Amino acid sequence: MQQWWRDAVIYEIYIRSLTDGSGDGVGDIAGIRSRLPYLRDLGVDAVWITPWYRSPMADGGYDVADYRDIDPLFGTLADAEDLIRETHEHGMRLLVDIVPNHTSDQHPWFQAALAAGPGSPERARYLFRDGRGPDQPPNEWRSTFGGPAWTRVADGQWYLHLFAPQQPDLDWTQPDVRAEFADILRFWLDRGVDGFRIDVANGLAKHPDLPDIADPADHPYWDRDDVHEIYRSWRQLADSYGGDRIFVAEAWVDDPDRLARYVRPDELHTAFNFNFLRCPWDADAFRSVIDESLRSVHAVGAPATWVLSNHDVTRHPTRYGRARTVRVEPNNAPRVPVDIELGTRRARAALLLMLALPGSAYLYQGEELGLPEVDDLPDDALRDPVWTSSGHTVRGRDGCRVPLPWQGTQPPFGFGPDGSEPWLPQPADWSTYTVEYERTRPESMLSLYRAALRVRRSHAALGDGTLTWAPSPDDVLILRREPDLLCVVNLSAAPFPLPEHQEVLLASEPYQDGKLPTDTAVWLRI
Ligand code: NOJ
Repeated sequence: MQQWWRDAVIYEIYIRSLTDGSGDGVGDIAGIRSRLPYLRDLGVDAVWITPWYRSPMADGGYDVADYRDIDPLFGTLADAEDLIRETHEHGMRLLVDIVPNHTSDQHPWFQAALAAGPGSPERARYLFRDGRGPDQPPNEWRSTFGGPAWTRVADGQWYLHLFAPQQPDLDWTQPDVRAEFADILRFWLDRGVDGFRIDVANGLAKHPDLPDIADPADHPYWDRDDVHEIYRSWRQLADSYGGDRIFVAEAWVDDPDRLARYVRPDELHTAFNFNFLRCPWDADAFRSVIDESLRSVHAVGAPATWVLSNHDVTRHPTRYGRARTVRVEPNNAPRVPVDIELGTRRARAALLLMLALPGSAYLYQGEELGLPEVDDLPDDALRDPVWTSSGHTVRGRDGCRVPLPWQGTQPPFGFGPDGSEPWLPQPADWSTYTVEYERTRPESMLSLYRAALRVRRSHAALGDGTLTWAPSPDDVLILRREPDLLCVVNLSAAPFPLPEHQEVLLASEPYQDGKLPTDTAVWLRI
């Protein structure tokens, strides 16, 4: 059986911001359907769609009230079924986002838990506890979004939320919870989805005593060993559908060997490689992240994955244009200077590096246009719960979620019907980032993405396989893919003479005299 996911290029659709088909300012399923030809022509193999379920939208849909229905903001279940079918007709696969760590506080289970009171089986599905004293939460855990991870309810008990208060954590030791999610997975597999991106995959298992965080090696809620048993059962479930339905774990686990445990043969197929995304613009750092990533996943027989951006981090042309290129947290005060020309140049080179690596790759909508982070959104436009939970100290992730520009010279740039107002304001000067503008310009980011994906598809050396490093100066990367391809990335300050080759397949920038300029990458046939 051909394992499509071992070298697929998968495009993340942040549904609120791709295209608004209904004219209410928010992206939706109708909008995605209208862009399928664009995605096919771009050359991606699959799309992953962020949560589209019924939700009060306290966290952009990552607070789910009904996992078996579509939020009216995005369309209907029938629209989703049409989209799944049409994506397949366009020759692509479709992954949905499953959110098992927490539900919305409006989910019927949580409402029932509130009504049923302490000690009830309804409360047992969540993590309700008594406080350590009056006004004192059960422990000192902090929410990822800022503030305490506990909220007190009317009868005095507290419930755990590792994210916003509107996102109560489920208790995964409860058989009800397990059975319910198995059923939800089947619901979507029966409707033809090709797999799932698992939200907060490393957070489901909690220490039974919920102790304060003392020993980082035995963290009470991140990456606990108990989580793996859940994924073994999910793998069996997916395999019962014939073998090409897949999972990708969102697990921010630093140690590559710990991360590789999620992709052991009887667990998940793939996991996002955030160490690559977090890597600074530095040749040695890239070399070691790439080696460690490949070593750790190959030890368990899984393919590597690569990703540069997503809806939670600062867009990479902006990151690479800062003095400290490693910084991914979005929009924390104070703002730092950005050289966007430099960052964009590096982003072009990074694409050729990423797509030359063995394994599969994830693209985040808008990166193919070279969109920068929007770091000057007005305070009153911010929608990310991080902004409120942090007491207005962390601006949050809205800057990478601004609706996409498609055509024209002024907002909404074809994101929705003329005159409609996108849910986040688009910069007035985005007319040179539209698909319409970039499509016909050979030097555009879009042209580079299309060309790179075309070459990757047709060239046997790219995709899954082995990688060897060819000898090079410290700040130049030369990686060889069998049988006949070299990728050269020049991170040094001086032009680098190209190694001997038969043909230049693609370069991230024009170059002269056989020398590769600083911050440029090239694919050579040898
Ligand atoms: C990770 C998602 O990518 C992020 O957007 C969300 O806020 C958290 N998980 C909580 O669900």
